[in-house]
Amino acid sequence: MKLTYETLDVNGIREAAAQTHSFWGGERTLEEHTQRTFDALAWLGRDLRYVGLRDERGALLASLKCYAVALQTPRGIARTLGIGAVFVPETERGKGYGQAVVQAAMDEARALGFDAALLYSDIPPRFYARLGFVEFPALDWSAQVTALPDSVPLRTRTTTADDFDTLSAWYHADAVAADIFPVRSSTRWRFGKWFNGAGDELILNDGERDVGYVNLRSTPQGLRVFEWAAPGVEPERVWATMRRLAEMEGQPHVCGWLRFDRRETWMAVTPRPNAIPMVAPLKDTLAVTANMKAFFGEMDHF
Ligand SMILES: CC(C)(COP(=O)(O)OP(=O)(O)OC[C@H]1O[C@@H](n2cnc3c(N)ncnc32)[C@H](O)[C@@H]1OP(=O)(O)O)[C@@H](O)C(=O)NCCC(=O)NCCS
Repeated sequence: MKLTYETLDVNGIREAAAQTHSFWGGERTLEEHTQRTFDALAWLGRDLRYVGLRDERGALLASLKCYAVALQTPRGIARTLGIGAVFVPETERGKGYGQAVVQAAMDEARALGFDAALLYSDIPPRFYARLGFVEFPALDWSAQVTALPDSVPLRTRTTTADDFDTLSAWYHADAVAADIFPVRSSTRWRFGKWFNGAGDELILNDGERDVGYVNLRSTPQGLRVFEWAAPGVEPERVWATMRRLAEMEGQPHVCGWLRFDRRETWMAVTPRPNAIPMVAPLKDTLAVTANMKAFFGEMDHF
């Protein structure tokens, strides 16, 4: 059967949303679920496209979202295709359409000059490993608030729009400990917060100067740490700050995605079954190996 790969128009996006609603809609109505995709398109403009595979009669057999993102790698910045929301309707599964739509998006990106592809897998990684994706560790950490260090906390204040360049400088300075990590524009940063339900950052201050930021949110599971960066600051002081903030919120637990260099003895660390970061090179010049130190934080999840 001849399959056509295409960028979905407004009607195609509605069709894809109707297919994915029962799977990813959560509590949202179909209209709300569909609107969320249109909102994401409005956020990202040309950096987001919804694509699909249709059969000769026009039936939508598979779809996914293509994001234009950037990764810092040992070879410099890689223009990267972000792949999200890979979906095949239940009646069409097991016929190769899922693999085919991901392959088509990768082929198109390679032809457009992209260097790499990135996705966060919610299914066993072998599905994507077959297409050349390398899996990076996906770990969650959690702790009772009383287990966190109780040394001298830093001061905190809310951010203003003027703080963005400083936040960005802290994020990028801190991330260089990794071999591979997402590079963020301000749009991407704001999109990541909206998409992942994170709040605004708090600036950390050591009494004399601003030294970094934390991004946390109270959830039913505890205080969720989306991200922090404070180059040159003793991590213990940042953790002590989170302890104080959790205590102020009456939160008995603190949790988040574990970054490769942030493991502490007082954390309980468990593998995450979903949102497993995976990267595939699209050019021979980019080597991606599982032993690279990778930093894919929750704010970059799409
Ligand atoms: C995942 C999904 C897109 C696969 O589409 P598909 O068209 O059925 O997949 P294909 O026919 O191309 O590939 C089939 C292979 O993938 C494997 N596979 C498919 N879905 C899988 C899943 N959920 N978990 C593990 N392996 C899976 C099959 O076992 C099969 O392997 P085999 O050839 O060794 O038997 C489809 O199951 C789906 O839409 N699931 C719901 C949404 C979802 O979870 N998307 C992925 C988000 S990261």
